[in-house]
Amino acid sequence: MAEYARKAKVCSWNEWDPLKHVIVGRADGTMIQAPEPAVEREWPQYGVPLGTCGRLPQEMEDKANEQLNNFAAMLEKRGIRVDRPTPIDFSQAVQTPDWKQATMFGCMPPRDLLLTVGHEILEATMSYRSRWFEYLVYRPLLEQYFKEDADFRWEAAPKPRLTERTYKKNYWTRFKTWSEEEKLERTQARDWVLTEAEPCFDAADVARLGRDLLVQQSTVTNAAGIRWLRQHFPSHRIHAVIFKEDAPMHIDATFVPVRPGLALSNRQRKPLTPELAEFFKKNDWEIIECAKPAHDQKAKFSFCSVWLSMNMLILDPKTVCVEASEKEQMEQLDQRGFEVIPVPLWDVAAFGGGLHCATADVTREGTCQDYFPKPIPGF
Ligand code: NVA
Repeated sequence: MAEYARKAKVCSWNEWDPLKHVIVGRADGTMIQAPEPAVEREWPQYGVPLGTCGRLPQEMEDKANEQLNNFAAMLEKRGIRVDRPTPIDFSQAVQTPDWKQATMFGCMPPRDLLLTVGHEILEATMSYRSRWFEYLVYRPLLEQYFKEDADFRWEAAPKPRLTERTYKKNYWTRFKTWSEEEKLERTQARDWVLTEAEPCFDAADVARLGRDLLVQQSTVTNAAGIRWLRQHFPSHRIHAVIFKEDAPMHIDATFVPVRPGLALSNRQRKPLTPELAEFFKKNDWEIIECAKPAHDQKAKFSFCSVWLSMNMLILDPKTVCVEASEKEQMEQLDQRGFEVIPVPLWDVAAFGGGLHCATADVTREGTCQDYFPKPIPGF
């Protein structure tokens, strides 16, 4: 029997233990979302001014799906079970009793929504109205895991109301008028689009390191969301962190643990939480600056940065998948003793990210370890 035909056994405690079962997203039907208080998309240079929305071009979608399918096939060839989400019509309008939103988004980045911690998969709250119903694309898989694995803990964080109270008024219009200096002052003050009216977080703002979870406060994760995570995972130590970036969203192109004792840090987005470096150093971890990215500008229609260069999928502590154009990043990891697997995925960027974004862990070998036995008071 092929390995992937086995029943699911949900369990993953970190980003690096040997991967056995993973979800890989699909590009099908991904939308440039209609504007909403949490986010505005605009690419006037490509004929998409603010206020317009619509499906990403078919030829881009086909290319992205080809790369995602090849990536999934490569993982399967290595004996890793790969599951895929079930797309729905993302061009449809959605509503709750509180609001209506003209479009949904897509199902390329499962990492944004699904947080696997041990035997649990937690559906994140999300903070965009266009992503409020995104959990539906993963429900067929989660139902299946629930049937196959008696120990699977299926959890969903409280769905936020996402009314006007959740967002600062006209945030993105005001954002455009601020100088770089003012934007950074706001970052230092953790003053982004979300208010603290209710807990909000995206799963991709969490980096998993055994007993310790790093959680980035960002444009999509507020302090209330981090507090909720702390209460939800009482056996874990949760460290709230921020970095030098004016509109942060998701930690996985900013700070990436790659194996016990080694983490990659974005060379531009320095940590603004001073305890972070001290905590790693005290526990004998080395933090190295990531390599220079291959691209000097974002992919067409992409809301992700060139730092997708460090957005990687780790197959085991000696093997890592890196986007195929990122020669310097591959070289750096090769020099650190990794077997590096180049995976072409740049055409997926516009659909929601890189190799880490495009995947969500279901099973890795290993148990919950304490990699940081020496604490830093207050962190
Ligand atoms: N929003 C971040 C993370 C993407 C995975 C970036 O664009 O760098």
